[in-house]
Amino acid sequence: MSTKLTLSPTQLQQLLSIAHTAAAKAAALINESFEKRYEQPLEIESKSSSTDLVTQYDKQCEEIVLAEIDEQCALWLVGDHATQKGTDAEGKRQCYSSTLVGGEEQPIVFDVLSEETRNDVPLEDCPTWIVDPIDGTTAFVHGGFDCCVSIGLALNKIPIIGVVNCPRTNEVFTGVEGAGSFCNGRRIHVSGCTHMNKALICTHTSYNRSTEAIEALLNINRKFATHYRVHGIRTYGAAAMDMCSVAMGRLDMYLEAGIQAWDMCAGTIIVREAGGIVSSLDKLDFDTEKNIATVEGFNLMSQSMCCAGKWQLAKEGIDTCNEFNYRHGVLFTE
Ligand code: IPD
Ligand code: CA
Repeated sequence: MSTKLTLSPTQLQQLLSIAHTAAAKAAALINESFEKRYEQPLEIESKSSSTDLVTQYDKQCEEIVLAEIDEQCALWLVGDHATQKGTDAEGKRQCYSSTLVGGEEQPIVFDVLSEETRNDVPLEDCPTWIVDPIDGTTAFVHGGFDCCVSIGLALNKIPIIGVVNCPRTNEVFTGVEGAGSFCNGRRIHVSGCTHMNKALICTHTSYNRSTEAIEALLNINRKFATHYRVHGIRTYGAAAMDMCSVAMGRLDMYLEAGIQAWDMCAGTIIVREAGGIVSSLDKLDFDTEKNIATVEGFNLMSQSMCCAGKWQLAKEGIDTCNEFNYRHGVLFTE
């Protein structure tokens, strides 16, 4: 019988600190690039579609983050527990011997899923760093404030640590399982809004511009605006940052289809630890009896997400998405 790896509160804080430093280093490069952009033009390429952009800074930020995580994780394990460093049986992943699991010597495997160079790594149960070196590349390209570095750690496929560093707004959000969420060191909480007609919500236009995808989003926004009469509908540039806005109550709900694990891993734990709920669009993730968020209904690889301060809003949001086949329109049409 295999024992599931668990990490102690102290270990979680140590790993948070690694993510915090890695994000700060990449965020410093983002700020530097803003200083330089008049003399040194951005090198802009496109990826999945002409609207899905990547620059030299996405790649450099990723290198910085992955190098920091690799070095610090090895030091952390060697310093605290590990007796041996190597690769796993398939020779693919960094692997460390450790006494962490049930007091017995067992290998710990850290994996990395990251947008630019490690985006096809399948998510497994081992602790996995999930990294978006620049979330909000379009905003970044256009000189916007809404771009950030997002680093999450998932264990057993569930986000347990998150850091979102927003260099243009000087905000650093963190969340750790069981230990709450913070913005610049101050505890944050979701809003108490339970009615759509009092809510400020957020939706994004995906990179898929098929008629079905765009029609579905227009229909959803129309229903939010006219039927529910929400206070407003916002669109910003970075999914991770918008999840943090839900976590601190400046947005009441945010949903999107066509979103990836690296856009939402860190934000997920930050929303949850701030008291909010995060769910895939096909399955609502809450326990109405206890009135709390559960983790089972959310799949990091589902390419869809709704987060909200209160489940009542998430329910209206998810029902509306399903009414207009939003997820299907974005994920399965061209
Ligand atoms: C994107 C941003 C955007 C969201 C997209 C993401 P990227 O990430 O978070 O706001 O709507 O779904 O892919 O491409 O800028 O890293
Ligand atoms: Ca990105």
